[in-house]
Amino acid sequence: MSVEILSLCGAEEFARELESDARAGLTRTPKSLPPKYFYDARGSQLFEEITRLPEYYLTRAETSILERVAGEIVALARPREIVEIGAGFSRKTQLLLDALGTSGGKRFVPIDVSSDALEAAGARLTARYPWLEFLGVVGDFERHLAAIPRSGARLVCFLGSTIGNLETEARVPFLKSVRAMLEGQDRFLLGVDLVKSPARLFAAYNDARGITADFNKNVLHVLDRELGGDLDPEAFAHRAFYDPRHERIEMRLVALQRVEARLAKLELELVFDPGDELHTEISCKFRRETVAEAFRGAGLVLERWITDEPGDFALALGRLS
Ligand code: SAH
Ligand code: TRP
Repeated sequence: MSVEILSLCGAEEFARELESDARAGLTRTPKSLPPKYFYDARGSQLFEEITRLPEYYLTRAETSILERVAGEIVALARPREIVEIGAGFSRKTQLLLDALGTSGGKRFVPIDVSSDALEAAGARLTARYPWLEFLGVVGDFERHLAAIPRSGARLVCFLGSTIGNLETEARVPFLKSVRAMLEGQDRFLLGVDLVKSPARLFAAYNDARGITADFNKNVLHVLDRELGGDLDPEAFAHRAFYDPRHERIEMRLVALQRVEARLAKLELELVFDPGDELHTEISCKFRRETVAEAFRGAGLVLERWITDEPGDFALALGRLS
C-alpha cells in the first residue's frame, strides 16, 4: 500500500491565481468568482454535508447507478488505473475501486484542488484496499490533466455532475483535454444531473437547513482569509434559482444592505448596493443529446447512457471515436 501526493499547483501559484481571478471577477459587472475557490477544508466539508441532505438527490441517484453498473464498466475498460477528476473524498468511487481490485487493476489517481480532501481519501482508501497504489494529484482540472502520469490502461471518471459547474463554452475544450488523456480502449465515465421538474431542482439548491447557503457564503470566508478582506458573510443572502431557458441553476450571493469592504492584499475597495449580486456558480442540467453532441465535438463517442430508475441522473460512458 502506498500514498503519494503530487502537487502540480503549489500553494503560492494558487494564491496568485486567486488574487488575479478575484481582482478580475470583482471589478466586472456583474461581479463573479470562479467556483474552484469554494473548496478549502471547510468548503469540502460543507459539500460532504450537502451530499447527505434529503433535498440533494444527486449523490444518492449516482450511487444507485454505480451500484448496478460499476462492475460492467470496469470489465469493459480493463483498466490498470482509475483517474478521477474533481475527486473530493472519493466515496462513490469506492464502488469502482471494489471492481478494480477484482479485475486486477492497481492504481487510483484522484486530481483535485483540495489537498485536504485528497489526503483524507488517501488514508481511508489505502486502509480499505491494501493493494492500492494511491497517487493524489493537487491541481486544476482545467489546466493540469495532461500532466497526470500514466501507468497503463485507464478509466477516467468525472462524477457528481461537476461538469455542470463549468461555463457552457468551456465544456467542449474541457472534454478535448479529457480525450487527450485516453488511448486505445480507455474509457471516460461522466456523471450528469438531468433536466427535471424546476421545483425539485430548486429544492436541491435551497435546502431547509441552509447548508447550501453556508457553502455558497464560504467563498467570502476564503476571500477574507486569503486576501485580507473584511467582507461580512452575514451581510449576504444565498440565492439559487433554476433558469429554464439555459436549463441550469444560477447561484448568487445577494447583498442584504449596502456593503463597503476592502481586500487589503489587493488594495481593492468593494461596494455592493442592497440587492447587488455576486455570481458564484452555475449548475447545468443535461439531456442525453446534449452530452452526445458535446462528446462528438471533443472526439468521443457516447457508448452507453445509464440512468437511475426515476431518470434523475445519468452516467455517460465515452470512448475514443
Ligand atoms: N466527485 C465528488 C466531489 C464533487 S464536488 C462527488 O461527486 O461528490 C467538486 C470537486 O471538484 C471538489 O472536490 C472540488 O475541490 C473539485 N474542484 C472544483 N474545481 C476544480 C478545479 N478547477 N480543478 C480541480 N478540482 C476542482
Ligand atoms: N456539481 C454538483 C452540482 O452542481 C455539486 C456542486 C457544486 C454544488 N457546487 C455546488 C452543490 C454548490 C450545491 C451548491 O450540484
